[in-house]
Amino acid sequence: MGRDCHIFRSHCLIKVEPNMIGADLGAGNARWARVLADRGALMTAVDVLPAPDDLREGVEWVQMRIEDWIKQIDPFVRFDFIMSFNLIHFLDREYVLEHLLPCLAAHVHPGGWMAIRTFCKHPEPVTGMEDRILSLYKPTDILGALPRWRTHRAHTDQDLSEGQCGTTRLWHITDVLAIRPE
Ligand SMILES: C[S@@+](CC[C@H](N)C(=O)[O-])C[C@H]1O[C@@H](n2cnc3c(N)ncnc32)[C@H](O)[C@@H]1O
Repeated sequence: MGRDCHIFRSHCLIKVEPNMIGADLGAGNARWARVLADRGALMTAVDVLPAPDDLREGVEWVQMRIEDWIKQIDPFVRFDFIMSFNLIHFLDREYVLEHLLPCLAAHVHPGGWMAIRTFCKHPEPVTGMEDRILSLYKPTDILGALPRWRTHRAHTDQDLSEGQCGTTRLWHITDVLAIRPE
């Protein structure tokens, strides 16, 4: 999992205990949901993609846009943690900062946490994907959308722009772990 695992391995995994209720938004091939379910967490994994064939017990797959999922979940549902890796840069920035992040925060138990990873590549190097919405988020952008949250000092903000990806001039990765106040 390489670089992707840094904040996850060092700060999220250790906080996961059996029977915690978690959500993985933009779950992809369920690689993280799988790891968390292995720890005993009960996971809801949301993605526009269909469930992977080898989905394991402990992961409930919801095939839906995040924008639709957040609108239809029970307002009283609370998660112990919500994670979203490599998703928000594909969504509208104003929607993410003014609506999605505050709404997600309202669905986390006191004492729970959110972990967000986002990246930005410009120009997008993959042919056919050039017009995807990619927005550069700094930790302050994400944490600014969560004003009453205590922030974990372990967020990373990596500029990988130099010589990483052919014509890509900007390649930036941001990890944020934000913990709700007790
Ligand atoms: C770069 S992948 C990341 C997958 C996974 N989180 C990981 O880190 O391995 C982005 C995922 O977000 C999903 N996605 C993109 N837009 C979405 C949306 N509006 N609602 C739900 N999922 C979305 C894509 O289908 C894809 O699986």
